Amino acid sequence: MMMKYFGSAMYPFLRENVMMKTMVEPALIVIFGASGDLTQRKLGPALHSLSCDGVLSPKTRVVGVARSQYTDKGFRDRIYKGVEMYARLTPKACSLWSDFAEQYTYVSGHYDDPDTYRRLAAHLNALDVEQDAGGNRLFYLATPPVLYPVIVEQLGKAGLNRGQRGWTRIIIEKPFGHDFESARQLNTQVHAVFDETQVYRIDHYLGKETVQNIMTFRFANAIFEPLWNRNYVAHVQITVSEDVTVGERAGYYDKAGVLRDMFQNHLLQLLMLMAMEPPSAFNARVLRDEKVKVLQAIGPVQAEDVVLGQYVGYLDEDGVAPDSRTPTYAALRLYVDNWRWQGVPFYLRSGKGLARKVSEISLQFKHVPHLLFPENVDLMPNHLTLRIQPDEAIQLRFATKIPGAGMRVKPVDMEFKYATDFGETALPEAYERLLLDALQGDASLFTRADEIELAWQLIDPLTARGVPLLYPLGSWGPGAADVLIGEQACSWFCED
Ligand code: BG6
Repeated sequence: MMMKYFGSAMYPFLRENVMMKTMVEPALIVIFGASGDLTQRKLGPALHSLSCDGVLSPKTRVVGVARSQYTDKGFRDRIYKGVEMYARLTPKACSLWSDFAEQYTYVSGHYDDPDTYRRLAAHLNALDVEQDAGGNRLFYLATPPVLYPVIVEQLGKAGLNRGQRGWTRIIIEKPFGHDFESARQLNTQVHAVFDETQVYRIDHYLGKETVQNIMTFRFANAIFEPLWNRNYVAHVQITVSEDVTVGERAGYYDKAGVLRDMFQNHLLQLLMLMAMEPPSAFNARVLRDEKVKVLQAIGPVQAEDVVLGQYVGYLDEDGVAPDSRTPTYAALRLYVDNWRWQGVPFYLRSGKGLARKVSEISLQFKHVPHLLFPENVDLMPNHLTLRIQPDEAIQLRFATKIPGAGMRVKPVDMEFKYATDFGETALPEAYERLLLDALQGDASLFTRADEIELAWQLIDPLTARGVPLLYPLGSWGPGAADVLIGEQACSWFCED
């Protein structure tokens, strides 16, 4: 059943309003790690789509920095390849690449060599004068994390952490630290050079439209929020499953594992947005204050509330230690100990090598207090699903009468699909939104220093929890995770 939705047919201006974007002020964007995968797969394509959308000023310039010896042309060719393969708006959809190509230049050098930063500073000053870019600078750390402190320190020494005019900001990729101690140390190193207001720690899940829509769904509708608490919700499930294995990232992954790679950031972010109190305003400080309160309210996770798994064949991956105990799967039961959520279990799970890729959040509501229709002793409670990806949608399951004699009841779905109402290509890539926000100085969708430290404090004790259980590739993880959730007389939803 389709939900009747007030789309563009009823409000012809709505679609235009949704798509309306304004051009951001010019800036010089400097990408460290410019020869790497992230730049080619995500950053170049995102900048290209933003340029095609007309939101990046034509005066914007992108400077790549890395050790590889590229010429400007070599760097442009590399970016172009990424744009062709990965951009939302490819050169076929938007034929402006030849205009944009000139915007990309390259500085090669070692990250720990002060001379790299001297040359970079001279290059930026020249571009600034040439483009009249207002002195605005956005640094993007897309290198291996071990280089973050080095680059930050060198930026400071070269005086690139503050400009004579305009603003200076820095985006730092995940992982931000490996545990609480290293994250705290990194925060100290960053704060020695940049103010917190200049720092944008990225979690690409917050750039996803469907993740932002959790807030809209909760706080722009009057009908759901009154039910969003322990009085009506029986439990909450958050699943981020992937069918891919660790592949070429085994070297990194074997040291990280699923808890550091996915839970400390993406899953906890989803949990915070689901559980937080309504912020009094949509701004970076207030919003992040509310999110932090959720982390502060999560009680210690008990041993019986954790299931760790490892897919069969993981030990044969190139780069994995032969006796590795790194979990590629985890399922947790958490409680948010506050008035709203007391006693409501939050089940979180994520893993690689699973049956399919799906990210979704489901709320299961409580059973009706009294069964009026005895023919239906196993009447299912309502549940609401926010599907983050793929087939982005919101689905409400409720009981309806089966036509005909008697009062037999069946669960049916009311569904809103993004593709139906906004079109197949309406959802921008997460990195587009995040780059745009950083250029506009809006840190709402970035992680604050205290938030990241609290998240690590929660995850750290779990990383030392025993030997992971084996599970077959293409399954839904170890059976123990079904037992964990089955204790609540329920099952994981997206498996059907
Ligand atoms: C990254 C993890 O942060 O998120 C990867 O490092 C994971 O291991 C990826 O595959 C998942 O992102 P998405 O957007 O594909 O769900």
